[in-house]
Amino acid sequence: MPRPRIVLDCDPGHDDAVAIVVAAHTTELLGITTVGGNASLEHTTYNACVLRDLLGLDAEVHAGAARPLVAAPQHAAAVHGESGLDGADLPEPSRGPDGADAVGFIVETCRRHDDVWLVPTGPLTNIALALRAAPDLADHVAGISLMGGGTFGNRTPTAEFNIWADPEAAAMVFDSGLPLVMSGLDVTHTFLATPDRIDTVTALEGRLAGVLADLFRFFSGTYVARHDRIDGAPVHDPLAVLALSRPELFERVRRHVAVETRGELTRGMTVVDQRTLVDRPAPNCDLVVAVDADAAWQVVVDAIAASP
Ligand code: BDR
Ligand code: CA
Repeated sequence: MPRPRIVLDCDPGHDDAVAIVVAAHTTELLGITTVGGNASLEHTTYNACVLRDLLGLDAEVHAGAARPLVAAPQHAAAVHGESGLDGADLPEPSRGPDGADAVGFIVETCRRHDDVWLVPTGPLTNIALALRAAPDLADHVAGISLMGGGTFGNRTPTAEFNIWADPEAAAMVFDSGLPLVMSGLDVTHTFLATPDRIDTVTALEGRLAGVLADLFRFFSGTYVARHDRIDGAPVHDPLAVLALSRPELFERVRRHVAVETRGELTRGMTVVDQRTLVDRPAPNCDLVVAVDADAAWQVVVDAIAASP
């Protein structure tokens, strides 16, 4: 199968870092754009540049939105640390970002190739801004494969962090009419960095493997400490990449998904229409409902092992 062409729009973030590694190994990665989310834009952009170096990539990195469209910026230090990538001794990047206009980069790249998948693994601010800046984007992109949402929440009882952080942007994306693939919490919580799985990374040689093993330990540590019972951190973000590059590992169903922007208890919720009524809205989304977690983990391990 040919490698899908993607632009990865991310807020690294431990699992975003894994998404970058997997994207480098299994896709034609046309560029990385960054958004404020897990940490400030300054941190997420710095972290993307660190990963680019560790992977020996020449993909461009472009910084995007520092804050959501409407909501106040809020980060996830309790999960990822203040830097967004706490827990590992990261080398300073050899160079900074190639630009500060992620939206322009997304639009130009999509217009140039016509078959690009956008893969957002953070708040959807850059993607919404790109859709607004270039209504013709719909004629050029292959679709959007995102990590976000679910039938339960993690930031609130009903809302997952990426959607909760910028619900207005998420609503624009879900209402865009573009082909959508959604990897939400229902599936990502079945893909855990368990101690056994982390050991398989620790056993690898090389600088990237050492950094990732440390990152996995920190990330799983915060999840285990913050939950009644969980066997490790859900490795959310690489699933949005793998849903495109290794589709045989997933089960999907067609559903209509809408984003709640107003409810006092439900702002940022993805409302998945599970009704079987004939009279219901047409599906707008491929909802990823299951993954072969062992096989997906093996792809992660292979991607790390294949890196310099
Ligand atoms: C999402 O939020 C962030 O903490 C992770 O990077 C992931 O994209 C999970 O809710
Ligand atoms: Ca993320």
